[in-house]
Amino acid sequence: MTIYAVTGASGHLGRLTVQDLLARGVPGSDVVAVVRTWAKAADLAERGVQVREADYSRPETLRAALAGVERLLLVSSSVTGQRVTHHSNVILAAKAAGTSRVAYTSMLNADSSTSPLAGEDRDTEQVLRESEVPFTVLRNSYYTEGYTDQLGQYLEAGEIVGAAGTGRISAAPRRDYAAAAARALLADEGANRTYELGGPAFDLSEFARVVTEVTGTRVSYRDLPAEEYASWVQRGGLDQATAQFVAALDAAVARGDLETTSGDLPQLLKRPAAALSEVVAAAYDAVLNATSKE
Ligand SMILES: NC(=O)c1ccc[n+]([C@@H]2O[C@H](COP(=O)([O-])OP(=O)(O)OC[C@H]3O[C@@H](n4cnc5c(N)ncnc54)[C@H](OP(=O)(O)O)[C@@H]3O)[C@@H](O)[C@H]2O)c1
Repeated sequence: MTIYAVTGASGHLGRLTVQDLLARGVPGSDVVAVVRTWAKAADLAERGVQVREADYSRPETLRAALAGVERLLLVSSSVTGQRVTHHSNVILAAKAAGTSRVAYTSMLNADSSTSPLAGEDRDTEQVLRESEVPFTVLRNSYYTEGYTDQLGQYLEAGEIVGAAGTGRISAAPRRDYAAAAARALLADEGANRTYELGGPAFDLSEFARVVTEVTGTRVSYRDLPAEEYASWVQRGGLDQATAQFVAALDAAVARGDLETTSGDLPQLLKRPAAALSEVVAAAYDAVLNATSKE
């Protein structure tokens, strides 16, 4: 009997990973869902999962939550600027608990990426290596949902605006990254490995073409220089610093930082990652459902 734990289990990726472990036959009693607020994971508790409360910024809560945990998935923190501290707290607590392996959701190409988000992932990987706890690094590319969640707006505007140029993005839906994380946790031979995980690559012009084909509504991609894109984002209501951050993320895409030719994702999944058209079609169904309820 191995005890698995997943942090961020009240969030999208963590919850999907817990559900995937259960679907693969791991008994709920062998899975610990680490959350800040118990009630947010009540549905998992109903399925027999051990729900334990902890906060990345409070080490004493982490030590208690990770007691007896053998394999841990550390889902990266969403608090930019505090992520290395948060992750270090979890890694140290896992070490103190005698956890035999920590898997961490890092960023694709973390060691070379120029994305403004990559530094914290690079530093976390370093903390992980120095901790001497056996580790698995899951370097995820973008979630396709980062684009498809805005499908309704794209259809309304008839365009997608960005500064990603012809940079290709090896995106995959969260459920594929979650399934890969579950498989990596379950695999006995997965220690001290780094996986570069991404789905079939597309650039934003291709994405617009797929949106047009799937929905029957013409959508095109309008590429702007990064500074102009930042101003465009700011006009949409974001403050200057956030708009520049958003534009810098796209500039990293333009430089190819979110693309990989690695076959690690299909290899872990033992099937191809979801096709872009499939993910867009599911998102379009959601848009149509939401519209019919209005
Ligand atoms: N690859 C990509 O495209 C991409 C895109 C966005 C984010 N990410 C990264 O991937 C992670 C998972 O993505 P997601 O979509 O699942 O995010 P999400 O739905 O926002 O979930 C984030 C999870 O982190 C938890 N959390 C936040 N601060 C915490 C703290 N101080 N202590 C303990 N738990 C805390 C949240 O708990 P609560 O429910 O209590 O808030 C939630 O469970 C993100 O956190 C981010 O680092 C990647």
